[in-house]
Amino acid sequence: MLETTTAPLLIALGSSLPKPDDSIARMITSGRGSLAFILGDEACRYRLLATSINWDRILIAYRDCTALGYAAFKHHRRGPFSPGVRPFVREFGRLRGALRYLLFVIAECREWYYGFYLYGLRVIKQARHQGVATSLLREIFEQARQSGHDRVELEVQVKNQRAQRLYTQQGFTKVRITPVNWLGRLLPFPAVMNMRRSLVSHP
Ligand SMILES: CC(C)(COP(=O)(O)OP(=O)(O)OC[C@H]1O[C@@H](n2cnc3c(N)ncnc32)[C@H](O)[C@@H]1OP(=O)(O)O)[C@@H](O)C(=O)NCCC(=O)NCCS
Repeated sequence: MLETTTAPLLIALGSSLPKPDDSIARMITSGRGSLAFILGDEACRYRLLATSINWDRILIAYRDCTALGYAAFKHHRRGPFSPGVRPFVREFGRLRGALRYLLFVIAECREWYYGFYLYGLRVIKQARHQGVATSLLREIFEQARQSGHDRVELEVQVKNQRAQRLYTQQGFTKVRITPVNWLGRLLPFPAVMNMRRSLVSHP
């Protein structure tokens, strides 16, 4: 457990911080575990994605200069990562690297129809159950409003009930469960629940 402290929880866009350090990049690239069949394990995801983080799409929660969690988002076709093919080729070789890169691009395109999309949310284990994710979500709503959107959408794995409870508490409602679509028949995507939160009827 982190020591209980009176220091306030701060939330900032990564792009507004002087230079987000490497441990933050590691935390951010540790997400996207559902794409491990494309992006490999955590260490591999770090090597593939850490140099191409779009810091203006990452909110970081920190207290006493320690990063406790992040929320990544996507809108106007720009998400938290924009890797080129090169790190994939370096990691997996020319043919396999190009194929994995293509699959990654397809997986990213799958989200094209969302206006403002919550791409990832994670809080370090020692800081959970202190309202960090709730605060990150509030700031996500603010980011969505500022970029002209009237709702926030997300996908959460059907088996992730803890996250679903948090989203429901924060006003998200279930839209549908996406079982296995055409892409899921080809690739091992997990079943996900689509959730949505209006910023108009639910300010
Ligand atoms: C899901 C996750 C982001 C939640 O983060 P968190 O910071 O613990 O979330 P919060 O603290 O805001 O809320 C979680 C719980 O703590 C409670 N809580 C919030 N503030 C609290 C406080 N000050 N004191 C005690 N409890 C508190 C909430 O009511 C909620 O309770 P519940 O689980 O019984 O519903 C975190 O567990 C995580 O990173 N999981 C792994 C990654 C993941 O699943 N991400 C979601 C992908 S879609």
